[in-house]
Amino acid sequence: MKNSYYQAQTNTQVTGAKLIASATVSSSSTSTSTSKSSTITSSVSSSSSKTTATIRTSTSTTSAFVCTTSASGWEVLGDLKNNGAKTPVGTNITGVLTGDAAEAKTDGGYTPPGARGSTACKADVCCIWSYIAVDLQPFFLNSDGTCNQWARRAVRLGFHDAAGWSKPNSLAGKDYGGADGSIALSAEEAARSENEGLEDIIAKVQEWQTTYGVGMADLIQFVSNLGAVVCPMGPRVRTWVGRKDSSTPAPTGLLPAVTDSVDKIVCLFGDKTLSYTQLAALLGAHSTSQQFFVDPSKAGEPQDDTPGVWDTRYYQQHRPGQTAPSGVFQFASDLGIANDTRTKSQWTSFAISGRAAWAASYATAYVRLSLLGVNNMNNLTECSHVLPKAVLTFP
Ligand code: HEM
Repeated sequence: MKNSYYQAQTNTQVTGAKLIASATVSSSSTSTSTSKSSTITSSVSSSSSKTTATIRTSTSTTSAFVCTTSASGWEVLGDLKNNGAKTPVGTNITGVLTGDAAEAKTDGGYTPPGARGSTACKADVCCIWSYIAVDLQPFFLNSDGTCNQWARRAVRLGFHDAAGWSKPNSLAGKDYGGADGSIALSAEEAARSENEGLEDIIAKVQEWQTTYGVGMADLIQFVSNLGAVVCPMGPRVRTWVGRKDSSTPAPTGLLPAVTDSVDKIVCLFGDKTLSYTQLAALLGAHSTSQQFFVDPSKAGEPQDDTPGVWDTRYYQQHRPGQTAPSGVFQFASDLGIANDTRTKSQWTSFAISGRAAWAASYATAYVRLSLLGVNNMNNLTECSHVLPKAVLTFP
């Protein structure tokens, strides 16, 4: 497995609008030869309180990693962090990254100002995206209104492209690999084992890029958000365009595997500035998913009993003490996170509080994910209004 290791990271500082945490790792235990774990204590301070955080260093026979610290989930990113908000869109995105609503509530009612390719359409950045949304919506849906494998693959593709970024890497001079399109622009990255199952959707986005003449990084995040919102009860995630493309393959080792420990997964997400809550919210995308490669003898088995519907049954069916319904394939990593003390209460809350709370949390987390490694946020354009209306009930 190419993502079976995680590079040790030290002296990483996480700063957020709502929590300022500073962790200094005082040991660099990176041995890969034996199983062992140790704890390192560091201080975490917020504006109102000072607490002690435990940082776990875990190694197994094959891997070594250091969890830097838990992320607040509210840290400002990229050029907004380095240079501040310089434009109205920069101010808007800063607001969303620090807690403003990340779900686009209205259906926009957008009417393109002209035909695709016309001068009027070209004059409106969002116009071409409205054509993409209208063209692909039926492609992402089954005849019964559920979302199909293309929508699911698009959602997963958005995650896999963006998740190739980490804060420790960026601090070490490798500030690339996020939402930059590299998963579809670098043959090496596309062929990595963790991207198994994404071959067909990568071929599709390459085809759509040619058809519509848009950037790959934007296209991948746009179709990920389109895939989510066309699923019945799916979130309508705020969507910006204008990212820069890159064909440089993302650094390796940053995508989670179902065989990873919960410690490793929370570290991987924390290093992407995602909090425990945001990890739990993002994993709900498995509400619609099916597995093909974890156990090929059970190819096609879903992760809850309503694949194709973005409901909270996935959370309910992974709660402690629940038996998986017949035909539902549960990932060890999902069960681990459902039952972990850091994520369990959030998981339970999504299970019982229904669609609205989860959709809002997913949108918050996904906006953050979709902007990892983007360093021109002051110059993006919001095109949320061209997304279709969310389907709030089903059937
Ligand atoms: C601990 C983190 C995660 C792990 C270990 C994980 C692992 C997996 C695996 C093994 C599959 C099945 C692949 C196959 O056999 O075809 C899968 C499918 C999927 N994942 Fe994840 N995933 C994680 C997080 C996420 C996140 C954060 C998202 C989106 C925001 C996501 C979206 C999806 C979707 C939509 C599918 C279904 C793809 C399809 O049906 O073709 N996953 N994931």
